[in-house]
Amino acid sequence: MNFIIETYGCQMNVADSELITSILITAGYKHTVDMDQADIIIFNTCSIREHAEVRVIGRIANEVSRKINNKNLLVGIVGCMAQRLGEELHKINKKIDFVVGVDQYLKLPEIINAKIGSTNIEFNTDEIYTNLFPVRSESHNAFITIMRGCDNYCSYCIVPYTRGRERSRPVKEILNEVKQSISENKFEITLLGQNVNSYNHEGNDFPDLLKKVNEIDGLKRIRFITSHPKDLSDKLIETMATCEKVCEHVHLPMQSGNSEILNRMNRKYTSEHYRDLIKKLRQAMPNIAITTDVIAGFPGESEEQFLDTYNMMKEIQFDFAFMFKYSERSGTKAIEFNDSVPEEVRLERLQRLIDQQCEITTQVYKSRIGREEEIYVECVSKKNKEEISGKTKDFKITVFEGDETMINKFVKVKIIDATGWTLKGRLL
Ligand code: 5AD
Ligand code: SF4
Repeated sequence: MNFIIETYGCQMNVADSELITSILITAGYKHTVDMDQADIIIFNTCSIREHAEVRVIGRIANEVSRKINNKNLLVGIVGCMAQRLGEELHKINKKIDFVVGVDQYLKLPEIINAKIGSTNIEFNTDEIYTNLFPVRSESHNAFITIMRGCDNYCSYCIVPYTRGRERSRPVKEILNEVKQSISENKFEITLLGQNVNSYNHEGNDFPDLLKKVNEIDGLKRIRFITSHPKDLSDKLIETMATCEKVCEHVHLPMQSGNSEILNRMNRKYTSEHYRDLIKKLRQAMPNIAITTDVIAGFPGESEEQFLDTYNMMKEIQFDFAFMFKYSERSGTKAIEFNDSVPEEVRLERLQRLIDQQCEITTQVYKSRIGREEEIYVECVSKKNKEEISGKTKDFKITVFEGDETMINKFVKVKIIDATGWTLKGRLL
């Protein structure tokens, strides 16, 4: 039987889809990227905001209609929505055959074999999927999960409820996965976790892990997401600055620039602490790219408190920001706050943030003109077949004239222009 996986949400879901692919191939199923060829359609879903869920429900409704012409087709839901909604998903759409939670992927072959409507969403806090080599979907980069779950309970966030308790994978397993990726010609890896800074396995913390990964022969670039400002240590900053393979980029979600809101978000840091971290990071690595996440219109956010976020983003000058309007998630602490910001105000604030950040990002990209950069070439440019596309060490897409033979190689270019959020280079 052929299976296809449609993935939504964060990189963790992308990595989990690669894991599921490996589990199913080992069990004898065949992977396809063509819906028409699929006997099993799996939706790997996201619950982070309401919009993400609504979208997937629509997609599922669309694809289950294939059952009219293909009586044997199976449709399954995995990931955060499966975990959050469980049995309810069968009621939302009666054509769904199986619903499997984030700790139960090893049982997927068995569940699919049974071919009956079933739900298995039990949490298993020990599950770290050992001795599996995910089937990677990207040609140049390997996402390597170093920890699963989250214990932080930010008051707006559903993740601790959908992904369960935090657990770190053994150092040895992670190093083996990195070596395996190099043998598949992937010279860049991204270490993944909801909060990589709290990685801890048998006394090894995240900087210890980074140092060990940095020593692996053949590896060229190390990235990691996501960092939590409350746990980003001086030791990590020093390690980033001294490990030559660690990219000069940190994704450090700020969420708000106002300490009172941060407190209500249960983020456990103040805006002053965040500012300090940025200062330290830039002192240690003057060229570091800093990206962030922010939420507009969290319950109780006054115009003044919003302006603290707006002004702090202006002050810090992030290279890029993911900006969201607050979305109510049932089961989270923030749902109990009864001072919600009207939807139109949330939207209007979000728009102001986006407008400002667009200008900042344009400025940051323009400031790169004239620099010489090392690019890891990923693919032929989608817009112009004469050009190839890759990324700088600080994670900026760069296009330049070149050919397919350069894909998966490192080349030097001079940045000659910046259009929107893409750098244009000339091969050196
Ligand atoms: N509403 C809006 N944004 C949210 N995020 C998480 N939960 C919510 C929510 N309920 C954002 C945060 C987080 C990013 C992955 O998604 O900014 O860092
Ligand atoms: Fe959600 Fe906070 Fe955990 Fe990130 S650290 S996944 S925002 S609870």
